[in-house]
Amino acid sequence: MAKTSDPRIIVFSIVEAVLDKKVPLDEALETAFSRNPDLEVRDKALVKHLSTTLFRHLGAIDSAMGKMLKKPLPARAAWVRHWIRIGATQILFLNVPDHAAVNTTVNEISKAKRSGARVFKNLANAILRNFVRSQKDILGDLEKNPEKNLPPWLRIHWEKSLGAEDLKKIAIVLSTQPPLDVVLKNPKDAAALLHPLEAKEVFKGVLRLRPRGLIKALPGFKDGKWWAQDLAASLPARLFGDVNGKAVLDLCAAPGGKTLYLASRGAKVIAVDKSRPRLERLKENLARVGLEATIVCSDIFDFAAGKGFGAILLDAPCSATGTLRRHPDVAYLRKERDILRLAALQGRMLDHAFSLLRPGGVLVYCVCSLEASESEDIIEAFLKANSSAQRQPVSARELDGHKEWITTDGDLRTLPYHLAEAGGMDGFYAARLVKSGDV
Ligand SMILES: C[S@@+](CC[C@H](N)C(=O)[O-])C[C@H]1O[C@@H](n2cnc3c(N)ncnc32)[C@H](O)[C@@H]1O
Repeated sequence: MAKTSDPRIIVFSIVEAVLDKKVPLDEALETAFSRNPDLEVRDKALVKHLSTTLFRHLGAIDSAMGKMLKKPLPARAAWVRHWIRIGATQILFLNVPDHAAVNTTVNEISKAKRSGARVFKNLANAILRNFVRSQKDILGDLEKNPEKNLPPWLRIHWEKSLGAEDLKKIAIVLSTQPPLDVVLKNPKDAAALLHPLEAKEVFKGVLRLRPRGLIKALPGFKDGKWWAQDLAASLPARLFGDVNGKAVLDLCAAPGGKTLYLASRGAKVIAVDKSRPRLERLKENLARVGLEATIVCSDIFDFAAGKGFGAILLDAPCSATGTLRRHPDVAYLRKERDILRLAALQGRMLDHAFSLLRPGGVLVYCVCSLEASESEDIIEAFLKANSSAQRQPVSARELDGHKEWITTDGDLRTLPYHLAEAGGMDGFYAARLVKSGDV
């Protein structure tokens, strides 16, 4: 993408990268900003907001567009569809005057040096005007059926796996912008930071605030008093209890949210991940917060431990369907078959991680997924096949009394509509296992 200062052109390059090249939105944003270093902070925020909003509602935008088109656009016009999506997002969900959203979008299409630009300009104009006329109907329908914001494959998949009622409750939360959660390095700082951050303490040591501007500019960031992490993502590492002075092996650790939590509570963390760039971010995060950990760049299958560890956290790579609120692009990067494929890898990772545990040791397996195939099913199969492994149920006491976050088997299971009145939370799953045998 060429250097430009027009936020809409940058959003176009981002939509193209995510939908056509399957680049995660965060990565596409980072690339776009590094190519346009002179972009004003305000425009950066607009690019982020416009592109995230587009993916949050893309199911509904595409379905409305499909109904407006007499016949589907040809494959060579994929780029026109992206522009219509950008225009429709502004018309339906952003505070942009309708005529400005239509005119700027049509203008960009006619300026584009792409095949059929002239022909498609008129078509895009007609469709966007149709979006303006249908605005009330589309938004009214979405209020009743928020699941229409999701792509059809995911709607069908969740209706089957979670049921219609949970699908609706989850879809309501996913259609709104999530709050920002920050986890405090020292929970005692809560009182001093509540006011400057205009936050509420939603869990011990976790403050929740309305997202505004750049995270880096918020009070306490530069001094390393906190890091941004959804409340749900901070829970698995708490399942080790008091870790002060203990060695904890953190497998699949980068970019380090859980490493930071464990290190801040006094653990001697060995953080293993195979991604060098993600480990660089982990190092930066540790340095900013003033914490230390031993960092190992390795595939976990190549990592061996001498006598075995007493505490192991395995945060396995997963479909990330629990984080759709913060990463709505995930629904367009994956398909149902990808979710099923991941389960085999997660099972093998758990086998390997458990082999690194010493008798009497505790292993926490977690994923930011809503899929049973990546969570409950993995643990059930593992416990069946390993008589030396026992589940150690999680208690509500460990979770500030939130018994609704615990499954009947005693595992942690948060859903996006938990704490809905305070803005919801990510979907996470964690099971705690103990290895029997002579210690
Ligand atoms: C869910 S993310 C981890 C998030 C991290 N625990 C945190 O709290 O910030 C999964 C990580 O697994 C890593 N990963 C995937 N396969 C791996 C493997 N075979 N060995 C080591 N790391 C792996 C990825 O690089 C990615 O950083």
